[in-house]
Amino acid sequence: MSESFLADVRAGLSSSPKSLSSKYFYDAAGDALFVQIMALPEYYLTRAEMEIFATQANDIVAAFDQDKNVQFEVIELGAGDGTKTVHLLRALLERGYDFEYIPVDISANAMQGLERDLRQQLPELNINPKAGDYFEMLGELRSTKHPKIILFLGSNIGNLLDQEAAEFMSSLAANLMLGDKLLLGVDLIKSADIVLPAYNDKSGITRQFNLNLLQRINRELGGNFDVAKFEHYAEYDANEGIARSFLVSKLDQIVTLEGSNDEYSFAQGERMKVEISRKYDDKILGHILHGSAFDIVDSFSDANRYFTDYLLEIVS
Ligand code: AVJ
Repeated sequence: MSESFLADVRAGLSSSPKSLSSKYFYDAAGDALFVQIMALPEYYLTRAEMEIFATQANDIVAAFDQDKNVQFEVIELGAGDGTKTVHLLRALLERGYDFEYIPVDISANAMQGLERDLRQQLPELNINPKAGDYFEMLGELRSTKHPKIILFLGSNIGNLLDQEAAEFMSSLAANLMLGDKLLLGVDLIKSADIVLPAYNDKSGITRQFNLNLLQRINRELGGNFDVAKFEHYAEYDANEGIARSFLVSKLDQIVTLEGSNDEYSFAQGERMKVEISRKYDDKILGHILHGSAFDIVDSFSDANRYFTDYLLEIVS
């Protein structure tokens, strides 16, 4: 992990414009800040998807269209604390389906907590957590022949560029079988007055979340970032439907990483991109799925239509 972290950070700081990958936000401090983000009044995404599962779990389970006599796997990519999924799991259990729940997350810590919580809340659940990078674990999907329902929730796909998302969908599809399904949670394109505050909250948690990436570089790679010399900046263009977050250098400065001779100079006002959060509609998702074996077979939205969980199926 830390070798690719170093390589990615060096590449990002050397490129023009500079950028860092949002996948490195989630160390222990970042996980804790993200939990705070999900509870922010401005961060509507988690509540919207929670509403979908709380009110439509039965419809979603019916749309899964599984055979009660055949065991299947429910595999959640990037499960995190899994609080949303409990509604779905409960609905499946209540209807007597025979399934194994396999949450996958980069954070081993999160997987232990989730297993503990779910063993308490749903004692009859058959749970088998895996800690690892889900991009690297797709190949393992083939190791069992059970039908599969993949959960990829929370608009986690939004951190990928459309091209990357299309590649991810294709490689996921290539590791699944005809009839396997994917429940894909995405944030919908909507006006800036709703989206932008979600990435620029009043209490400054998102700012801390982004600055933690610099602190993580300091902790793990011996960087000497002075976080007081950077500010958080978020923008959102409702026409393209992409929110972007930057860290902006407040002054001319030079940053170094221990054990390398590299020097990275920042000009006053220079922006370093740290995250994109793509928003979707049917057309953009259709474009991303084009050429993959997935088709959209159903969709579930919250009452505000802020968020949609699309049900995709392998059709060829
Ligand atoms: C976890 C990728 C869905 O993009 O909304 C929240 C991460 N970044 N606030 C998002 C995030 C800043 C989040 N995702």
